[in-house]
Order: sequence, then structure tokens, then C-alpha cells
Amino acid sequence: MSGKLKITGIGGSLEQNSSTLAILKSAMAEISAIGAETVIIDIKEVSFPLCSFSKGIKPDISAVDDMLNIISSSDGFVFASPEYHGTVSAAFKNVIDYFEFLSDRTPPYLTGKPVGLIAAAGAENAGFGTLETMINIVHSLRGIVAPSSLAIGSANKLVHADGSINEDPLKRKLKRLAEEVYFLSSKLKS
Ligand SMILES: Cc1cc2nc3c(=O)[nH]c(=O)nc-3n(C[C@H](O)[C@H](O)[C@H](O)COP(=O)(O)O)c2cc1C
Repeated sequence: MSGKLKITGIGGSLEQNSSTLAILKSAMAEISAIGAETVIIDIKEVSFPLCSFSKGIKPDISAVDDMLNIISSSDGFVFASPEYHGTVSAAFKNVIDYFEFLSDRTPPYLTGKPVGLIAAAGAENAGFGTLETMINIVHSLRGIVAPSSLAIGSANKLVHADGSINEDPLKRKLKRLAEEVYFLSSKLKS
């Protein structure tokens, strides 16, 4: 394998101190420490209009093309969504809807690329419905779900005000997910 792997994280919420974004950043820092080039797409900074395909035309926003080019050129991904009413947030899903414009790329969508998933919920024992939805999203995009993908309950209680993770078991799970996404990306890179 020549050159660094490129692994992109997409997630967070629209809130200023998003615990989902902090958790995503922690996983991405682990991936970067292993040796990958990393990019983080913060949902808060991606203010695309609601996705519509009525004319099959992308909105004339260069940020959409920029994001699609980042996705196409990435070897692996980490997706992180908060749990809103038992599923992914609308803001996260809207960004994913734009992936439909990857249908005519070679290969299309996320074909054969690994994706680590993080569902961050507020309730103590929650996030599993969201994780299941995220698995379905990755499968529909022809990607490969990393087996250590995780649902995190009480997510906001596990993040310090400075964004660092305050619980060792969660740190370990994120490290394992990071190692897995890196390993799968290196094995699946064509
Ligand atoms: C609109 C909305 C809906 C939510 N629905 C759920 C839910 O169904 N289950 C749950 O456990 N937490 C729910 N929560 C709590 C969030 O999942 C939780 O606070 C999450 O960590 C927020 O992530 P953030 O800090 O990145 O914004 C909801 C929060 C909001 C704002």
C-alpha cells in the first residue's frame, strides 16, 4: 500500500457543544494516531438545503461537490449521529441523502468501503435503534459496517466540557473501532 489512508468522519449535531461531535473527534484522533490522513465533516458546518432530486440536479453549492469529492476519495469512514426520537437526526440524514449523487461515480456510493458507526443517545440504555438505522444506511450505500460500531447511552455525561472523553470503557471502545476502521480500510483499499 502506498501513501496514507484517507479516513473521513461525518457527524455531530447542530448544538454548540455536541457530545456526538466530541466522541467522533476522539475516534478520529485515534485513527490519525495510527497513521491515516483524517478529515472531519461537522454536520453543524454543512448547511445544505433539504435534499431534493425532482430535477436530478445538485444544488449549485460548491460545498456539496467538495463533500462528494472528499467522500469519493476516502478509503474508510466513521459516521456519528445523535439519537433523535429513536433514530438518526434529520441533519445527519440530510447530509447522507446527498450521497445519492455518488450513484454515477466509480465505484458508486461507498462500494466496498468500511464504515465505523457511532450512535450517541441521551437515555441511559439507548442508541440501538439509531445504530440499526445507520447499519441499514451503510448497507444501502454498499458499504461495509465495522463490527465494533457502537451505541452509546448517556452520551453527554461521558464527555468533559473541553470535549475529552471522561470514561475509560468508552475510550477503549473508540480505540478498538478506530483500529478496526484503519485495518479494514487498508485491507479493502484497491
Ligand atoms: C429532538 C431530540 C430528540 C431526542 N430523542 C432522543 C431519543 O429518542 N432517545 C434518547 O436516548 N435521547 C434522545 N435525545 C437526546 C440526545 O440523543 C442526546 O442528548 C445526544 O447525546 C445529543 O447529542 P449532542 O450532544 O451531540 O447534541 C433527543 C434529543 C433531541 C434534541
